[in-house]
Amino acid sequence: MSLPVPSRAVITVRRARQADIPQMLRVMEPFVARGDLLPRTAADLAREIERYVVAADGDRVVGTGALKPYSPDLAEIIALAVDAAYQGQGVGRMIVERLLRIAGELGIGEVFALTRRPDFFYRVGFTLADKARFPQKVWFDCNRCPRQHCCDEIAVHIINVASGSFLA
Ligand SMILES: CC(C)(COP(=O)(O)OP(=O)(O)OC[C@H]1O[C@@H](n2cnc3c(N)ncnc32)[C@H](O)[C@@H]1OP(=O)(O)O)[C@@H](O)C(=O)NCCC(=O)NCCS
Repeated sequence: MSLPVPSRAVITVRRARQADIPQMLRVMEPFVARGDLLPRTAADLAREIERYVVAADGDRVVGTGALKPYSPDLAEIIALAVDAAYQGQGVGRMIVERLLRIAGELGIGEVFALTRRPDFFYRVGFTLADKARFPQKVWFDCNRCPRQHCCDEIAVHIINVASGSFLA
């Protein structure tokens, strides 16, 4: 269930903390239920918490996202979700920009996503990519996706991340 957005909400994006995990699961749950995100457990998040950022409205977590590295030069944006009550206000963009900054700091040149929301990613600077370029993703994660035999996800990517050229 989504609560109403306070009229003067100030959203910040920060590194996730272990204490955020119950709220992160709450934000992701509706999108997992409809197949937009892969299922993740509290233990999964606890183990990989350093990969995650959250968008917060005060103490309330309203968005999540993470950067999953595949190689020194390639990472994927995963677990991107914004509470329905907070969508359409730039929160998803803030999360992606924070993840790209982190990728840049790590010297990662290319960041990709597999998504059924390509238009969102195009708006935040990604372009269409060939899914066949990302075999690690297909081999590891697709096995646990409910849509593995009827995949309708689009691959998008952004390159030259380390240069910071994605920033306005
Ligand atoms: C996709 C999602 C993260 C976007 O978050 P959001 O906070 O609503 O997005 P923003 O408000 O930051 O939008 C940034 C831009 O993308 C556009 N946009 C957002 N969602 C869009 C969509 N579904 N289709 C087209 N454009 C979209 C916005 O209009 C905005 O454009 P602008 O900057 O030119 O005005 C959010 O809708 C979500 O959590 N969806 C469900 C989970 C999901 O599908 N995650 C992606 C898995 S890869």
